[in-house]
Amino acid sequence: MTDVLPKTHAATGAADGDPAAAGQPLLRIEGVAKTFGTFRAVDGVSLDIKAGEFFALLGPSGCGKTTLLRMLAGFEAPDEGRILLGGKDIASTMPHERPINMMFQNYALFPHLSVRDNIAFGLKRAGMARADIATRVAEMVALVKLDGLEKRKPDQLSGGQRQRVALARALARRPQLLLLDEPLAALDKKLRESTQAELMELQRRLGMTFIIVTHDQEEAMTMASRIGVMKSGKLAQVASPRELYEGPRSRWIAEFVGDVNVFDGEFKLRDGHRLVIATREAGTLVTAEPREPVGETRLSVAIRPEKVKLSRRAPVSEAGRETAINSLDGVIADICYLGGTTTYRVKLDTGGTVQASVVNSARLDVDAYSVNQNVVAWFTPDDCVVLQS
Ligand SMILES: Nc1ncnc2c1ncn2[C@@H]1O[C@H](COP(=O)(O)OP(=O)(O)O)[C@@H](O)[C@H]1O
Ligand SMILES: [Mg+2]
Repeated sequence: MTDVLPKTHAATGAADGDPAAAGQPLLRIEGVAKTFGTFRAVDGVSLDIKAGEFFALLGPSGCGKTTLLRMLAGFEAPDEGRILLGGKDIASTMPHERPINMMFQNYALFPHLSVRDNIAFGLKRAGMARADIATRVAEMVALVKLDGLEKRKPDQLSGGQRQRVALARALARRPQLLLLDEPLAALDKKLRESTQAELMELQRRLGMTFIIVTHDQEEAMTMASRIGVMKSGKLAQVASPRELYEGPRSRWIAEFVGDVNVFDGEFKLRDGHRLVIATREAGTLVTAEPREPVGETRLSVAIRPEKVKLSRRAPVSEAGRETAINSLDGVIADICYLGGTTTYRVKLDTGGTVQASVVNSARLDVDAYSVNQNVVAWFTPDDCVVLQS
């Protein structure tokens, strides 16, 4: 990125309207719902976003992400609830009057307008003076590295370049809050990764607040400091990437965010800070006490594949240290070599299957396991997550 840094409303905000000064979140979403016919696309979402946050809304297609963004931008009106920006209800504020801009999923560039005129569009509509528009457009072109392409039309650009025009157009009015709807979905993997890094750098340097929508959990975890997982119009969990991955609140979240082994079972007994859970497919497992108290007898135990260790013989616990290790005998059923890691699927003697992901830390495969080899798959109680649903 270049050194051309537009100042945002947030950076120049007057003291009386400055949400940070008042100790308020920049954005407060309060019980917002949207119904299409009889279908509740957004079903009672409440969420606070702080100024300067990079927040990701993550969820499968159709869970209501775009509808929620469109309500923030003002293109849809909520049927229930309120949206407050800097403490003020913005229900009656028109989209172009909100200090919020949205970058649309399909970019929605004007095909008949040049790069320059696409970027200038919102500035003209806002009545900015011609000379100021020219300066601002030049800044934006430099910021997103589109120099030399100002006169091209969208159909004369690559996918990545079109994405940059859409980003420049969304940033041109220096919004306080930028909403990005699946901004990288149309880019190939390599370009997506480099663009992720650029967006993060841009957000940090502009000191702006970003809400990005994605259905890609890796993208959300890479970019955002906080993630809201959406399911069927509701926020299922709001947490940091690490909390979300290591402490998912439900089986659905555990399975949506990354790979996971899940064993259904029944609570047997509590042993100090441990729970003993009898599972159908992996025998009796010992887990750490979950953060939230368990009320039901039917529970599931979730273990991420990289927490499952493999060895040729049962691990020996050191005297006085971990004795309640979960150790499962099995045989390697199949092997998926992924370069940096290898995933082994182990068929357990108890009937179930467990996946173990092993880092290929050496180039030569002297330690690799082969199909049909007998192994022990083991993991510690602390690596187990107890789930109620
Ligand atoms: N204008 C509309 N009229 C009727 N149904 C809609 C409309 N917009 C969205 N929906 C429905 O609401 C649900 C959520 O849509 P959307 O917010 O676009 O989901 P996402 O962005 O998470 O994929 C979908 O089932 C979609 O078909
Ligand atoms: Mg969408």
